[in-house]
Amino acid sequence: HTPVLLDCDTGIDDAIALTYLEARDDVEIVGIVSTAGNVGTEQVLANNLALSAMLGIEAPVARGAAAPLVQELMTAEDTHGPTGLGHAILPQPAGSPRTADPRSGAQLWVDAARAHPGELVGLVIGPHTNLALALEIEPELPSLLRRLHIMGGAINHRGNTLPTTEWNIAVDPDAARRVLAAFTAAPQRPVLAPLDATEAVRFTQETVDRLRAISAHPVITVLVDALRWYFEFHEADGFGWMAHVHDPLVVAHALEPGLARTSPLAVDVELEGTLTRGQTVGDWLGRWGLDPNVDLMVEADADTFVDHLLRVLERRFGA
Ligand code: BDR
Ligand code: CA
Repeated sequence: HTPVLLDCDTGIDDAIALTYLEARDDVEIVGIVSTAGNVGTEQVLANNLALSAMLGIEAPVARGAAAPLVQELMTAEDTHGPTGLGHAILPQPAGSPRTADPRSGAQLWVDAARAHPGELVGLVIGPHTNLALALEIEPELPSLLRRLHIMGGAINHRGNTLPTTEWNIAVDPDAARRVLAAFTAAPQRPVLAPLDATEAVRFTQETVDRLRAISAHPVITVLVDALRWYFEFHEADGFGWMAHVHDPLVVAHALEPGLARTSPLAVDVELEGTLTRGQTVGDWLGRWGLDPNVDLMVEADADTFVDHLLRVLERRFGA
Protein backbone atom coordinates (compact mmCIF):
# COMPACT_ATOMS: atom_id res chain seq x y z
CA HIS A 1 0.00 0.00 0.00
CA THR A 2 1.21 3.47 -0.85
CA PRO A 3 0.79 5.79 2.15
CA VAL A 4 -0.59 9.18 1.11
CA LEU A 5 -1.41 12.38 2.92
CA LEU A 6 -4.03 14.59 1.28
CA ASP A 7 -4.03 18.35 1.94
CA CYS A 8 -7.20 19.76 0.46
CA ASP A 9 -9.76 22.59 0.49
CA THR A 10 -12.79 20.37 -0.22
CA GLY A 11 -14.17 21.59 -2.72
CA ILE A 12 -15.99 19.73 -5.50
CA ASP A 13 -12.97 18.32 -7.32
CA ASP A 14 -11.18 17.71 -4.01
CA ALA A 15 -14.12 15.50 -2.99
CA ILE A 16 -13.71 13.47 -6.19
CA ALA A 17 -9.98 13.14 -5.49
CA LEU A 18 -10.59 11.92 -1.95
CA THR A 19 -13.20 9.41 -3.13
CA TYR A 20 -10.82 8.14 -5.82
CA LEU A 21 -8.03 7.61 -3.27
CA GLU A 22 -10.31 5.70 -0.94
CA ALA A 23 -11.59 3.60 -3.82
CA ARG A 24 -8.10 2.34 -4.69
CA ASP A 25 -7.17 -0.79 -2.80
CA ASP A 26 -3.43 -0.13 -3.09
CA VAL A 27 -3.51 3.21 -1.26
CA GLU A 28 -3.47 3.89 2.45
CA ILE A 29 -4.73 7.37 3.33
CA VAL A 30 -2.73 8.15 6.47
CA GLY A 31 -4.03 11.66 7.01
CA ILE A 32 -6.29 14.35 5.63
CA VAL A 33 -5.37 17.97 6.23
CA SER A 34 -8.10 20.57 5.75
CA THR A 35 -6.94 23.87 4.38
CA ALA A 36 -8.82 27.13 4.09
CA GLY A 37 -9.42 27.85 0.42
CA ASN A 38 -12.53 27.11 -1.60
CA VAL A 39 -14.42 27.63 1.67
CA GLY A 40 -13.25 28.41 5.21
CA THR A 41 -11.37 25.81 7.27
CA GLU A 42 -14.30 24.88 9.50
CA GLN A 43 -16.43 24.07 6.46
CA VAL A 44 -13.59 22.20 4.73
CA LEU A 45 -13.09 20.22 7.92
CA ALA A 46 -16.81 19.44 8.14
CA ASN A 47 -16.78 18.28 4.51
CA ASN A 48 -13.71 16.09 5.03
CA LEU A 49 -15.17 14.55 8.19
CA ALA A 50 -18.53 13.87 6.55
CA LEU A 51 -16.95 12.36 3.42
CA SER A 52 -14.59 10.28 5.55
CA ALA A 53 -17.52 8.92 7.53
CA MET A 54 -19.41 8.09 4.33
CA LEU A 55 -16.35 6.41 2.82
CA GLY A 56 -15.31 4.56 5.97
CA ILE A 57 -11.96 6.38 6.14
CA GLU A 58 -10.50 6.14 9.62
CA ALA A 59 -7.39 8.25 9.07
CA PRO A 60 -7.00 11.40 11.17
CA VAL A 61 -8.60 14.52 9.70
CA ALA A 62 -6.93 17.72 10.87
CA ARG A 63 -8.24 21.25 10.96
CA GLY A 64 -5.72 23.33 9.05
CA ALA A 65 -4.68 26.93 9.47
CA ALA A 66 -7.64 29.27 9.25
CA ALA A 67 -5.87 31.92 7.18
CA PRO A 68 -2.99 32.26 4.72
CA LEU A 69 0.48 33.19 6.01
CA VAL A 70 0.37 36.86 5.03
CA GLN A 71 -2.66 37.93 3.07
CA GLU A 72 -6.33 37.70 3.96
CA LEU A 73 -8.27 34.58 3.12
CA MET A 74 -10.35 34.60 -0.04
CA THR A 75 -12.89 31.86 -0.64
CA ALA A 76 -14.75 30.67 -3.75
CA GLU A 77 -18.38 29.94 -2.87
CA ASP A 78 -19.30 31.05 -6.40
CA THR A 79 -17.24 28.19 -7.82
CA HIS A 80 -17.92 25.47 -5.25
CA GLY A 81 -21.20 26.46 -3.59
CA PRO A 82 -21.95 27.79 -0.08
CA THR A 83 -20.68 24.60 1.61
CA GLY A 84 -17.96 23.83 -0.95
CA LEU A 85 -19.90 20.85 -2.28
CA GLY A 86 -22.26 22.55 -4.72
CA HIS A 87 -25.85 21.32 -4.50
CA ALA A 88 -24.92 18.25 -2.45
CA ILE A 89 -26.50 17.77 0.94
CA LEU A 90 -24.25 15.76 3.20
CA PRO A 91 -26.18 13.16 5.18
CA GLN A 92 -25.92 13.31 8.95
CA PRO A 93 -23.69 10.37 9.87
CA ALA A 94 -25.38 7.58 11.76
CA GLY A 95 -24.01 6.96 15.24
CA SER A 96 -21.33 9.17 16.72
CA PRO A 97 -19.98 11.63 14.14
CA ARG A 98 -16.29 11.67 13.30
CA THR A 99 -14.35 14.42 15.03
CA ALA A 100 -11.28 16.39 14.07
CA ASP A 101 -7.86 15.18 15.09
CA PRO A 102 -6.56 17.47 17.86
CA ARG A 103 -3.32 18.15 15.97
CA SER A 104 -2.79 21.08 13.66
CA GLY A 105 -2.63 20.39 9.95
CA ALA A 106 1.09 21.21 10.01
CA GLN A 107 1.73 18.74 12.84
CA LEU A 108 -0.19 16.02 11.01
CA TRP A 109 2.06 16.52 7.96
CA VAL A 110 5.13 16.17 10.15
CA ASP A 111 3.88 13.15 12.10
CA ALA A 112 2.77 11.34 8.94
CA ALA A 113 6.11 11.97 7.23
CA ARG A 114 8.10 10.82 10.26
CA ALA A 115 5.94 7.69 10.55
CA HIS A 116 6.59 6.73 6.90
CA PRO A 117 10.09 8.03 6.13
CA GLY A 118 10.88 7.88 2.43
CA GLU A 119 7.47 6.34 1.73
CA LEU A 120 4.83 9.01 2.13
CA VAL A 121 3.40 10.60 -1.00
CA GLY A 122 2.27 14.16 -0.21
CA LEU A 123 -0.68 15.44 -2.22
CA VAL A 124 -1.49 19.15 -2.13
CA ILE A 125 -4.70 20.03 -3.94
CA GLY A 126 -5.41 23.26 -2.10
CA PRO A 127 -3.40 26.25 -0.87
CA HIS A 128 0.02 25.50 0.65
CA THR A 129 -0.43 27.11 4.08
CA ASN A 130 -0.25 23.93 6.18
CA LEU A 131 2.73 22.52 4.36
CA ALA A 132 4.61 25.82 4.73
CA LEU A 133 3.91 25.72 8.47
CA ALA A 134 4.96 22.07 8.65
CA LEU A 135 8.33 23.03 7.17
CA GLU A 136 8.87 25.35 10.14
CA ILE A 137 8.36 22.42 12.52
CA GLU A 138 10.40 19.94 10.47
CA PRO A 139 12.80 21.48 7.94
CA GLU A 140 13.81 17.93 6.87
CA LEU A 141 10.29 17.23 5.67
CA PRO A 142 11.22 17.31 1.95
CA SER A 143 13.67 14.43 2.42
CA LEU A 144 11.19 12.45 4.51
CA LEU A 145 8.64 12.31 1.67
CA ARG A 146 8.77 9.91 -1.24
CA ARG A 147 7.40 12.65 -3.41
CA LEU A 148 5.23 15.75 -3.32
CA HIS A 149 2.53 16.29 -5.95
CA ILE A 150 0.91 19.70 -6.24
CA MET A 151 -2.10 20.95 -8.14
CA GLY A 152 -1.23 24.56 -8.72
CA GLY A 153 -0.13 27.34 -10.98
CA ALA A 154 -0.65 28.52 -14.52
CA ILE A 155 2.60 28.68 -16.48
CA ASN A 156 1.79 29.40 -20.13
CA HIS A 157 -1.90 29.67 -19.53
CA ARG A 158 -4.37 32.30 -18.32
CA GLY A 159 -5.23 32.17 -14.66
CA ASN A 160 -8.55 31.10 -13.23
CA THR A 161 -8.47 33.55 -10.30
CA LEU A 162 -6.85 36.85 -11.32
CA PRO A 163 -5.92 37.05 -15.00
CA THR A 164 -2.55 35.34 -14.44
CA THR A 165 -3.09 33.43 -11.21
CA GLU A 166 -4.35 29.96 -10.37
CA TRP A 167 -6.50 29.49 -7.26
CA ASN A 168 -4.32 27.27 -5.04
CA ILE A 169 -1.32 29.55 -5.43
CA ALA A 170 -3.32 32.78 -5.40
CA VAL A 171 -4.92 32.04 -2.02
CA ASP A 172 -1.54 31.80 -0.31
CA PRO A 173 1.32 32.75 -2.65
CA ASP A 174 3.75 33.28 0.23
CA ALA A 175 3.22 29.70 1.39
CA ALA A 176 3.56 28.31 -2.14
CA ARG A 177 6.83 30.17 -2.66
CA ARG A 178 8.22 28.85 0.63
CA VAL A 179 7.24 25.30 -0.23
CA LEU A 180 8.89 25.43 -3.65
CA ALA A 181 12.05 26.90 -2.11
CA ALA A 182 12.21 24.26 0.63
CA PHE A 183 11.66 21.39 -1.79
CA THR A 184 14.75 22.25 -3.83
CA ALA A 185 16.35 20.04 -1.15
CA ALA A 186 14.03 17.12 -1.85
CA PRO A 187 15.52 13.89 -3.22
CA GLN A 188 12.85 13.96 -5.96
CA ARG A 189 11.58 17.15 -7.56
CA PRO A 190 7.94 17.85 -6.70
CA VAL A 191 5.46 17.35 -9.51
CA LEU A 192 3.63 20.61 -10.20
CA ALA A 193 0.41 20.21 -12.17
CA PRO A 194 -0.72 23.61 -13.45
CA LEU A 195 -3.92 24.61 -15.24
CA ASP A 196 -2.01 24.17 -18.52
CA ALA A 197 -2.33 20.40 -17.99
CA THR A 198 -5.31 19.99 -15.66
CA GLU A 199 -7.75 21.96 -17.82
CA ALA A 200 -7.52 19.16 -20.37
CA VAL A 201 -9.84 17.25 -18.04
CA ARG A 202 -13.28 18.47 -19.03
CA PHE A 203 -16.21 16.65 -17.50
CA THR A 204 -19.25 16.69 -19.78
CA GLN A 205 -22.85 15.71 -19.06
CA GLU A 206 -21.92 12.30 -20.41
CA THR A 207 -19.20 11.97 -17.76
CA VAL A 208 -21.70 12.79 -15.02
CA ASP A 209 -24.23 10.36 -16.46
CA ARG A 210 -21.58 7.62 -16.42
CA LEU A 211 -20.73 8.52 -12.83
CA ARG A 212 -24.40 8.47 -11.76
CA ALA A 213 -24.91 5.10 -13.46
CA ILE A 214 -22.25 3.49 -11.23
CA SER A 215 -24.53 3.22 -8.21
CA ALA A 216 -26.88 4.95 -5.80
CA HIS A 217 -24.17 4.98 -3.12
CA PRO A 218 -24.56 8.22 -1.12
CA VAL A 219 -21.04 9.36 -2.03
CA ILE A 220 -21.77 9.04 -5.75
CA THR A 221 -24.95 11.09 -5.22
CA VAL A 222 -22.94 13.75 -3.38
CA LEU A 223 -20.45 13.96 -6.25
CA VAL A 224 -23.18 14.14 -8.91
CA ASP A 225 -25.06 16.90 -7.03
CA ALA A 226 -21.84 18.77 -6.37
CA LEU A 227 -20.84 18.61 -10.03
CA ARG A 228 -24.11 20.21 -11.15
CA TRP A 229 -23.04 23.39 -9.33
CA TYR A 230 -19.58 23.19 -10.91
CA PHE A 231 -21.18 22.96 -14.37
CA GLU A 232 -23.44 25.96 -13.62
CA PHE A 233 -20.41 27.98 -12.52
CA HIS A 234 -18.43 27.09 -15.64
CA GLU A 235 -21.42 27.88 -17.83
CA ALA A 236 -21.80 31.29 -16.18
CA ASP A 237 -18.08 31.86 -16.82
CA GLY A 238 -18.59 31.26 -20.55
CA PHE A 239 -17.26 27.70 -20.86
CA GLY A 240 -20.57 26.01 -21.70
CA TRP A 241 -22.10 23.02 -19.90
CA MET A 242 -18.92 21.35 -18.63
CA ALA A 243 -16.46 21.55 -15.78
CA HIS A 244 -12.69 21.62 -15.47
CA VAL A 245 -11.92 18.93 -12.90
CA HIS A 246 -8.37 19.45 -11.67
CA ASP A 247 -7.60 17.65 -8.43
CA PRO A 248 -8.36 13.98 -9.16
CA LEU A 249 -6.02 14.00 -12.16
CA VAL A 250 -3.18 15.16 -9.95
CA VAL A 251 -3.67 12.49 -7.30
CA ALA A 252 -4.21 9.79 -9.93
CA HIS A 253 -1.02 10.80 -11.71
CA ALA A 254 0.89 10.36 -8.44
CA LEU A 255 -0.08 6.67 -8.59
CA GLU A 256 -0.26 6.21 -12.37
CA PRO A 257 2.64 8.19 -13.86
CA GLY A 258 1.64 7.15 -17.39
CA LEU A 259 -1.39 9.46 -17.23
CA ALA A 260 0.66 12.58 -17.89
CA ARG A 261 3.96 13.82 -19.25
CA THR A 262 6.23 16.04 -17.16
CA SER A 263 9.18 18.25 -17.95
CA PRO A 264 11.79 19.64 -15.52
CA LEU A 265 11.51 23.39 -15.03
CA ALA A 266 12.60 26.16 -12.68
CA VAL A 267 9.43 27.77 -11.33
CA ASP A 268 8.94 30.58 -8.85
CA VAL A 269 6.00 32.52 -7.47
CA GLU A 270 5.62 36.28 -8.00
CA LEU A 271 4.98 38.04 -4.69
CA GLU A 272 5.57 41.68 -5.57
CA GLY A 273 3.54 42.31 -8.71
CA THR A 274 0.68 44.74 -8.38
CA LEU A 275 -1.24 42.91 -11.12
CA THR A 276 0.43 39.51 -10.91
CA ARG A 277 0.95 38.62 -7.24
CA GLY A 278 0.55 34.85 -7.05
CA GLN A 279 1.54 34.19 -10.66
CA THR A 280 3.75 31.14 -11.24
CA VAL A 281 6.65 31.96 -13.54
CA GLY A 282 8.50 29.22 -15.41
CA ASP A 283 12.02 29.79 -16.75
CA TRP A 284 11.92 27.77 -19.98
CA LEU A 285 15.12 29.24 -21.41
CA GLY A 286 17.21 28.97 -18.24
CA ARG A 287 17.63 32.74 -17.89
CA TRP A 288 17.83 32.48 -14.09
CA GLY A 289 20.67 29.98 -14.30
CA LEU A 290 18.91 27.80 -11.72
CA ASP A 291 18.44 24.07 -11.67
CA PRO A 292 14.87 22.91 -12.34
CA ASN A 293 12.95 22.73 -9.06
CA VAL A 294 9.79 20.97 -10.28
CA ASP A 295 8.70 18.36 -12.76
CA LEU A 296 6.00 20.34 -14.49
CA MET A 297 3.00 18.40 -15.74
CA VAL A 298 2.88 19.56 -19.35
CA GLU A 299 0.36 17.22 -20.91
CA ALA A 300 -2.25 14.86 -19.53
CA ASP A 301 -4.05 12.03 -21.26
CA ALA A 302 -7.46 13.31 -20.22
CA ASP A 303 -9.64 10.66 -21.87
CA THR A 304 -7.60 7.81 -20.41
CA PHE A 305 -7.74 9.51 -17.01
CA VAL A 306 -11.53 9.90 -17.04
CA ASP A 307 -11.97 6.26 -18.04
CA HIS A 308 -9.53 5.22 -15.32
CA LEU A 309 -11.29 7.33 -12.67
CA LEU A 310 -14.70 5.91 -13.53
CA ARG A 311 -13.32 2.37 -13.60
CA VAL A 312 -11.81 2.74 -10.12
CA LEU A 313 -15.09 4.16 -8.77
CA GLU A 314 -17.08 1.45 -10.52
CA ARG A 315 -14.94 -1.27 -8.95
CA ARG A 316 -15.48 0.22 -5.49
CA PHE A 317 -19.11 1.36 -5.68
CA GLY A 318 -20.64 -0.62 -8.55
CA ALA A 319 -23.19 -3.35 -7.96
C1 BDR B 1 -7.90 24.49 -7.96
O1 BDR B 1 -8.69 25.46 -7.30
C2 BDR B 1 -9.71 24.85 -6.59
O2 BDR B 1 -10.88 25.59 -6.67
C3 BDR B 1 -9.86 23.46 -7.15
O3 BDR B 1 -10.32 22.59 -6.12
C4 BDR B 1 -8.46 23.13 -7.59
O4 BDR B 1 -7.71 22.58 -6.53
C5 BDR B 1 -7.91 24.77 -9.45
O5 BDR B 1 -7.37 26.02 -9.69
CA1 CA C 1 -8.79 21.97 -4.46
